[in-house]
Amino acid sequence: MGDRICSLFVCKLIEQPMKTGAPVRVSLIFFLVLLIGAFVCLHWIDVVPSPNTDISLQKMFLPSITSITSPIGINCSITCPENSPVTVKDDESLSSKACPEYFQWIQKDLNPWKEKGITKQMVESIESKAHMRIVVVNGRVYVKKLRWVYQTRDVYTVWGILQLLRLYPGKLPDLDFMFECGDKPVILKSDYGGSKAKKVPPMLHYCGSNSTLDIVFPDWSFWGWPELKIKPWKTFKKDLEEGNQRVKWIDRIPYAYWKGNSRVSSVRKGLHKCNVTHKQDWGALIYELDWKFTREEKFKNTDLANQCTHRYKIYVEGAAWSVSEKYILACDSMSLLVTPHYYDFFTRSLLPSIHYWPINENDMCKSIKFAVDWGNKHPQKAGSKFVQEELNMKNVYDYMFHLLYEYGKLLKYKPTVPEWINRSVLGNNGMFWKRVEEEVQD
Ligand SMILES: *[C@@H]1O[C@H](CO)[C@@H](O)[C@H](O)[C@H]1NC(C)=O
Ligand SMILES: *[C@@H]1O[C@H](CO)[C@@H](O)[C@H](O)[C@H]1NC(C)=O
Ligand SMILES: *[C@@H]1O[C@H](CO)[C@@H](O)[C@H](O)[C@H]1NC(C)=O
Ligand SMILES: *[C@@H]1O[C@H](CO)[C@@H](O)[C@H](O)[C@H]1NC(C)=O
Repeated sequence: MGDRICSLFVCKLIEQPMKTGAPVRVSLIFFLVLLIGAFVCLHWIDVVPSPNTDISLQKMFLPSITSITSPIGINCSITCPENSPVTVKDDESLSSKACPEYFQWIQKDLNPWKEKGITKQMVESIESKAHMRIVVVNGRVYVKKLRWVYQTRDVYTVWGILQLLRLYPGKLPDLDFMFECGDKPVILKSDYGGSKAKKVPPMLHYCGSNSTLDIVFPDWSFWGWPELKIKPWKTFKKDLEEGNQRVKWIDRIPYAYWKGNSRVSSVRKGLHKCNVTHKQDWGALIYELDWKFTREEKFKNTDLANQCTHRYKIYVEGAAWSVSEKYILACDSMSLLVTPHYYDFFTRSLLPSIHYWPINENDMCKSIKFAVDWGNKHPQKAGSKFVQEELNMKNVYDYMFHLLYEYGKLLKYKPTVPEWINRSVLGNNGMFWKRVEEEVQD
């Protein structure tokens, strides 16, 4: 069984053509993928961000040095240790502000453990639900893969955590947590009512909802989604900026656009009824994404950065929250959000009529029509800059940092190097640093 998963996993990794911009990155990715593939095969990844010796210490990355004045209870002044390997242009630190408002949700997500903390039993009780267990001891990451994961979500998630350790070496406490890589949150509130409320297991996951207790963590696509040829967020944002500038809002098609796979949800299917026909005009253009065709076309026409061609873009959830949300919001077209039921780490702070226009899921067509008519009459009110401004990689890393830091404070035991691991140190190769350096400079 283990072997099968293992070889599938490696095949899967090798199969995917990893095409990104620079040849350097391609080889980095390839190298990383091979390494991670190899280590995942041993079921464990053990990584040490090696101490840096030769990089200027003064010009290091200084995150949000502003003092914490926000009421969210998180200390937003992480300072890099003296030996931080990351260098950033001088003006970077000056432009950084206090924590974005969405950092407040870290405390809310961790609230169930605030009083009594997190025990080893709690963590281990969900081994059967999690896809991987991640242990961090002295800045080394040990990953145990527990179940098969769709595509490379797990690899990219671990990659992100490794980057974080590079970015803030020596700053993260020792950690032990379970991670779920599926679409839906899995820790149901209804299972932990009454006396069981003291036993809520902590599970990190990409999204949450009002009826679940999963702790929300940034999704893998911030580091790229090779299967869909989606570039790392930082690169994507750059492309998108250019894409946004190509056609001015006023010159875009005055319709609301949606393209996706509607097989995964009934709301998406319902959206088809709002498509424009010669009989009715709800102001919406709805396209079905033909995955098979798209795959054959090698995703030529799904280049997200080229999709800001309509004045309005519709977001509608799939099986749960959808990764597409940040890409839709990133367009400077107006985002029409069909009543969401799930959130990811930043979307709880989106405000209707400021960051998006809410679409009533029970009356979608009329609701879209109203938004489109209104928008066409008030053309100055285009999209919001929330995603462009508040969702840069630095904030993503800082969110991860604060979340894991606060999580670590709640642990009632000291995580130790798991005795059943086969150690292999993946350190001192510099490649993680390179990427972090690139990523935080936006
Ligand atoms: C926040 O962290 C900084 C640096 O780690 C420390 O100097 C400061 O005292 C902390 N502030 C609070 C309120 O904990
Ligand atoms: C929606 O309408 C457009 C324009 O008529 C058409 O090209 C498209 O195929 C329609 N979408 C669906 C899912 O039928
Ligand atoms: C979730 O809870 C918030 C706050 O109580 C509420 O505003 C929101 O409408 C709820 N979302 C759903 C989908 O029920
Ligand atoms: C891990 O190490 C143990 C001994 O320490 C060895 O018996 C086992 O074969 C190793 N496993 C792998 C996958 O290398």
